[in-house]
This record gives sequence, structure tokens and C-alpha cells, in this order.
Amino acid sequence: MIEAKLHDPQGRGHVRIDEDRWIVGIRVDQEHQGQGVGRALLERALDLIDGPAFAEVSRDNVSGTQFYEACGFVVDRPGGNDGSDVLVKL
Ligand SMILES: CC(C)(COP(=O)(O)OP(=O)(O)OC[C@H]1O[C@@H](n2cnc3c(N)ncnc32)[C@H](O)[C@@H]1OP(=O)(O)O)[C@@H](O)C(=O)NCCC(=O)NCCS
Repeated sequence: MIEAKLHDPQGRGHVRIDEDRWIVGIRVDQEHQGQGVGRALLERALDLIDGPAFAEVSRDNVSGTQFYEACGFVVDRPGGNDGSDVLVKL
């Protein structure tokens, strides 16, 4: 079991990992976006997962998908009940 919620030290955002080691949400406060906070949170999550990492993003969340792609993830397949994008980083 690895379920975790990691917070930015300055409280600007957080990332959640579920019990299957999936990254199920990452959020940075709007006024602090575009400053590397999301990437730093994601890197901490990847350290904890320590292996192949999966993330699911709503299909209509283009910027969320682009964020993951900028951080080295690739779109793997449609997933979830609503055909959300599933991204994977090996
Ligand atoms: C997605 C989110 C977490 C990114 O956090 P952030 O702190 O703004 O991202 P960073 O500043 O660390 O950027 C990391 C990389 O992602 C890219 N990126 C970030 N936001 C992006 C956007 N809206 N569109 C395209 N690329 C983006 C950056 O260009 C950067 O790449 P680079 O280093 O090659 O320039 C943040 O915008 C957010 O909370 N969005 C709302 C919630 C959400 O959609 N979460 C994702 C799905 S759960």
C-alpha cells in the first residue's frame, strides 16, 4: 500500500498517489502555476512510486495532458469510464 498525498513545502499545491501507485491528481494554486511547483511535486511522487508510473487525466484537460507530456509521460490509451487519457512513464 503506497497511498499518499504529498504537499508542496510552501503549501502551493499537492499530488495524490493511490494504492495502485497511480497518480490520481496533481494541483498547483493558480497564482503559483508555471513556476516549476508541479514538476517538483511530480518528481517527488515518481521517487516514491519507484517504477513505472501511471496517471489519468480527463480527456478535455488538454493543459493537464501537456503538463504530463512535458514531464516525460506519453499518452498510452484511453481509460476510465469516460475515456480519460491514461499516461504512462516507464
Ligand atoms: C497541471 C499543473 C499541476 C502544472 O503545474 P505547474 O506548477 O504550473 O507546472 P510547472 O511549472 O512545474 O511546469 C512543468 C512543465 O509542464 C509544462 N506545463 C505546465 N502547465 C502547462 C500548460 N497549462 N500547458 C502546457 N504545458 C504546461 C510547462 O511548460 C513545463 O514544461 P517545461 O519545463 O518544459 O517548460 C497545474 O497547472 C494545475 O494545477 N492545473 C490544474 C489541475 C490539473 O489540471 N491537474 C492535472 C490533471 S490531474
